Amino acid sequence: MRLDVVILAAGKGTRMHSDIPKVMHKLAGKPMIEHVVDCAASLNADAIHLVVGHGADLIRDHFAGSAFAEQLAYATQEQQLGTGHAVQQAMPSLPARSVEDRVLILYGDVPLVSQDTLAELIDCASSAPLGVLTLFTENPEGLGRIVRDDAHALTAIVEERDASEQQRGINEINTGIMVASAIELKDWLSRLSDDNAQGEYYLTDIVGLAVADGHTVESLTTGDEFEVQGVNDKLQLCVLERHFQMIQAQALLATGVTVMDPTRVDIRGDISYGKDLSVDINVIFEGVVKMGNGVSIGANCLIKDAEIGDGVTLLPGTIIDGATIGANASIGPYARLRPGTELAAQVKIGNFVETKKAKIGVGSKANHLAYIGDAVIGSGSNIGAGTIFCNYDGVNKHQTVLGDDVFIGSNGVLVAPVQLEDGVFVAAGSVVNTDAPAGSLAVGRAKQRNISGWKRPSKKD
Ligand code: UD1
Ligand code: CA
Repeated sequence: MRLDVVILAAGKGTRMHSDIPKVMHKLAGKPMIEHVVDCAASLNADAIHLVVGHGADLIRDHFAGSAFAEQLAYATQEQQLGTGHAVQQAMPSLPARSVEDRVLILYGDVPLVSQDTLAELIDCASSAPLGVLTLFTENPEGLGRIVRDDAHALTAIVEERDASEQQRGINEINTGIMVASAIELKDWLSRLSDDNAQGEYYLTDIVGLAVADGHTVESLTTGDEFEVQGVNDKLQLCVLERHFQMIQAQALLATGVTVMDPTRVDIRGDISYGKDLSVDINVIFEGVVKMGNGVSIGANCLIKDAEIGDGVTLLPGTIIDGATIGANASIGPYARLRPGTELAAQVKIGNFVETKKAKIGVGSKANHLAYIGDAVIGSGSNIGAGTIFCNYDGVNKHQTVLGDDVFIGSNGVLVAPVQLEDGVFVAAGSVVNTDAPAGSLAVGRAKQRNISGWKRPSKKD
């Protein structure tokens, strides 16, 4: 059996009021369509066909070079003439050789569909040419109704605008997700007409065609309305975002994480962690974040693409992006670690300290108010308050190298490239632009003069 997945993503999404095509709007930090592509890929699909129209280039660019690039095929739907017409655009690139071959139809704006449900749908329609995913809902407004005969067999899907008064009372609806025999689907699509209330080629009409051909149409009902919820506007996107975040927060709690408030933690990526992680309020994770045992995260931290060792404490207001942090280090409050920061164990980075491309050895400290960029610092060194690693000459970046047990007094400026060997002591307020040998005192400041008998200016009459 061959599985082709067709994802409809040609619509503009007028109600999003945006220049970005609807399916590129993000849920949990990732475009909606990427959630759907991820899910399709998890089913081991042979190919994933994206039917694109509005914003097609943006969608293509997004996936170019991604892990799925080889599996993805594109079909362009110039004019949005209906869901049936959209699926038809993908047909020329579908092989459809064997009666076993299946096509799964998904929607780029239904981001939370789950692998389990789709696998079950494919399974339930393994010996029928068509299977439809349905939902019972209190509010079927605007959706296609599932019509069944006395024997409960599915006979048709009727769009609301074409439905009779009695059909509008049906509360089982079409989620839009279907699986069909590839060979049959090609045939049904070629027989669709646009003779309906909206003048569109409805995909849903293939149900009636299958039944007329004497086939049984299978159906699977999902109990999870969120997984089949489409997004048409920002409110619906927000509702799904909060739902998704709550599921993730509950998964944290279920695995022993202390979460101070599950409504105030957002995970926009993949996180992994050991035992006894604790997460205070308003914490955001982005990208890939790996944490060891006993990590404690204070309020209002943003943590992106980071590796955080055992026993690390992040104090409130800390921002981390592209950093590696060794065991038992303490960061913050209000620290900013930028890409290329590599901290060894027991390092301490305090308030208002910014680091970038900085490799800092065991137990070294920068407790307050410093910029440490393009630096290599040994172990046991101390960077005083107000120290600036002056790494940029206006054109090029240069590196500063400090050995072990170096002490930089407050308000030092280290003008790179410069190297201070083990045990160097830099006097407070120094501008250091010359290498200093091990154990030396570097003083780079004007000598103080005291002028005796000096008179303060006085106020003029
Ligand atoms: C469709 C179903 C309806 C179902 C509902 C579930 C049809 C005729 N109706 O209705 O039974 O209850 O989904 O949400 O299938 N699209 C294209 N090209 C087109 C038209 C649509 O790519 O020409 C895409 C849209 O961008 C969207 C998806 O297909 O992602 C669904 O289209 P939409 O217009 O929202 O379908 P509905 O009329 O709501
Ligand atoms: Ca819709």
